Amino acid sequence: LPLILALLLAAYLIGSIPTALWVGRRFFGLDIREHGSGNAGATNTFRVLGKKPGSVVMAIDIFKGWAATMMATVMLQQGAIAADKLLYFQLACGVLAVLGHIYPVFAQFRGGKGVATVLGMMLAIAPATVGVCILVFLVVLVLFRYVSLASMSAGVAFALLQLLPAFRPQNPLLLYFGFILAALLIYTHRANIGRLRAGNESRVPLFGRK
Ligand code: G3P
Repeated sequence: LPLILALLLAAYLIGSIPTALWVGRRFFGLDIREHGSGNAGATNTFRVLGKKPGSVVMAIDIFKGWAATMMATVMLQQGAIAADKLLYFQLACGVLAVLGHIYPVFAQFRGGKGVATVLGMMLAIAPATVGVCILVFLVVLVLFRYVSLASMSAGVAFALLQLLPAFRPQNPLLLYFGFILAALLIYTHRANIGRLRAGNESRVPLFGRK
């Protein structure tokens, strides 16, 4: 039991690493949460600080979700957990990393919206489904140029895709978590939803369209 608790705590702490905040502070001397959308995430880092820091933050935030979730696999390989419990631990570690990202203990509990970290988590659990979701994200982004809308669409797509025979998980628990995570992403984007409805959500300048 102590080992399991340490695992879960580690997952939360990994998720809690406030990448956008630290990159902004260390290399640009600013608090990213006081600029752009005010979100401590990859999108806002792209927006406020540019492509290179944005890519670094995105990669690390994806990696946090993936690494936390993969800890469960390592535990299985070490014989610390049973094979039939793997998914439970993957989901627990992944969700704790996502919650750490959204509510980081290292940043006054004001973190990001969880998109990159959910992506990393699900890459470790259901990569094929994630592949389709990335396509959904890109299509919505190119069509509408709102990252928030693309992120929510990808989250909802993940949940719905799992209803199809080709993507249906063996364990229905994963199906339920797909919906829970989609709901969580919609919740973390509530301010974006308000801006989308009001028509003042910021758009990504794509293909020279401002
Ligand atoms: O990465 C989160 C994204 O979906 C929205 O970010 O900064 O536009 O609120 P932002």
